[in-house]
Amino acid sequence: MSKVIAFYNNKGGVAKTTTATNVAGVLSLKKKKVLLIDGDPQGHTSLTFGVDSDELQTTLGAYLTSNWSAKKASKYFIKVNDYLDVIPSNQSLSDFIIDVSSEEPKTRNKHLKNFIESVKNDYDYIIFDMAPAVDIVLENIVEIVDDLIVVAVPETYAVKNAETTLKITDDKNVNVRYIVPTKTQLNTKTHKFMLENLREVAQAHNIKMTDTYIPNLIAFSEAVSIYELPLALIEDSRYKNAKKYYEKLVQELGY
Ligand SMILES: Nc1ncnc2c1ncn2[C@@H]1O[C@H](COP(=O)(O)OP(=O)(O)O)[C@@H](O)[C@H]1O
Ligand SMILES: [Mg+2]
Repeated sequence: MSKVIAFYNNKGGVAKTTTATNVAGVLSLKKKKVLLIDGDPQGHTSLTFGVDSDELQTTLGAYLTSNWSAKKASKYFIKVNDYLDVIPSNQSLSDFIIDVSSEEPKTRNKHLKNFIESVKNDYDYIIFDMAPAVDIVLENIVEIVDDLIVVAVPETYAVKNAETTLKITDDKNVNVRYIVPTKTQLNTKTHKFMLENLREVAQAHNIKMTDTYIPNLIAFSEAVSIYELPLALIEDSRYKNAKKYYEKLVQELGY
């Protein structure tokens, strides 16, 4: 049985995609079978692996619209390595959300559950990179997620959104395991101060903030621009320092 993990915050730009793709990369190097699913119509998950999903027919939205199981779709998955498969998304996921919006919640919220059911024994981890939205995809995730990990930058807007995110997830009784601070600049007073605020937000919702912070390093975006891969999967001595953060995070999360 796979463990279902979702990286979420209802704010954009906080490193959800960077975290989901790097955690998936680290796990694949540990020989864990991972299915990484893009839950955001912007399509950044597959773009991290050099695949522009704009014109693709083989995306999550298309599979859900056609009522395909993940098993049936599996021959079209992007095979990154022996252990990591990726399902891309594009605008068709938004179209799907509109299509099913008039369904009863008990039907509308089961589409992802039905979709992944057929591959739950094929993967150790099914990881969702989420959109910064409170939408039907989130409602579907709530039905299936084992660990929801909130990703947040220690800045005023993102801390506020982390709080909103936790209120939403508290209301839905979702098991949120951690807040992960990202893009941290601990040499600044603002980030040091806001990190404490973020910790208080975590405590107020009875969850832990990870001891692992992902620092603000250009290497994370450079890796994608130059190599079309998440940093975790690149063999380049220049990235030795940056690579250790997501390795440490995976260890701390206990995956
Ligand atoms: N640790 C980091 N240090 C510096 N830049 C980062 C880091 N993590 C992500 N970024 C960059 O920040 C931007 C937003 O990250 P992304 O993962 O796309 O966020 P989200 O999925 O939450 O919108 C991207 O340009 C990405 O390359
Ligand atoms: Mg993203």
